[in-house]
Amino acid sequence: MKIGYVQFNPTFGRVERNLDRAEALIEGAQADLLVLPELFNTGYLITSREEIGALAEEVPGGRTARRLAAVAKRRNVHLVAGMAERSGAKLYNSAILVSPRGFVAVYRKVHLFFEEKLWFEPGDGGFPVLDIGICKVGVMVCFDWFFPESMRALSLNGAQVVCHPANLVLPYCQTAMVTRCLENRVFAVTANRTGTEDRGGKSLHYTGKSQITDTAGNVLSRAGEDEECVGIVDIEPEKALDKQLNPYNNLFGDRRPSFYRDICGVPPSVEGTTTKRD
Ligand code: ACM
Repeated sequence: MKIGYVQFNPTFGRVERNLDRAEALIEGAQADLLVLPELFNTGYLITSREEIGALAEEVPGGRTARRLAAVAKRRNVHLVAGMAERSGAKLYNSAILVSPRGFVAVYRKVHLFFEEKLWFEPGDGGFPVLDIGICKVGVMVCFDWFFPESMRALSLNGAQVVCHPANLVLPYCQTAMVTRCLENRVFAVTANRTGTEDRGGKSLHYTGKSQITDTAGNVLSRAGEDEECVGIVDIEPEKALDKQLNPYNNLFGDRRPSFYRDICGVPPSVEGTTTKRD
């Protein structure tokens, strides 16, 4: 199975231009599954809720979802792509999965980062694991990596390849994904963007270095910091089904959940913070 990332530099607010650029990069790629960055069609550095409200689209009826589905069909590829979703009056930082047969699922980012909390609702659907025939894929978006529970939940639910659209501005994620993959024995594709956005008196520089990591924590592919490119590797997704480390240790079988129940609670020290809780 061939999996990969599409790394590029979206221009804020120019959805048609960004769709064209992504499609041009996908055009030259032979893969079964490709992951695009977070908010790949709109750009990331939002200055008001009205601004992103005007750019957000319905899923699967909006133009981005329809265009991705058409590309997936024509290129016979599965695509996971980050985009702003409008659902009624609510906005979500979402990622959609489309297959050559059409729309499959939408994931709404669970752990919102920084000012995303001003524009978006926190995801309400948990972490999806989807059977795409060749393997089971899980989806999370950018900052979700900071919470090991995200990849653990995906892995316990059977994900073999974790698709991870991102807009990273700090250098830690790529190194962390080595451990995330190792501790869950899954593959991961982190698709980051490049470039700098200067808007509303703020500036963000995105760090590229999209990465594919295997079940043993090996980095199979890493993009440069600034290049627009597609990186593809061949994997055997069955390897992610084997959680046996040695004759004595099974990664999931050896867990002792009765000793970690506390990690599902909320410590008193964070009561009253801004996060909406379930
Ligand atoms: C991020 O979640 N975009 C850092």
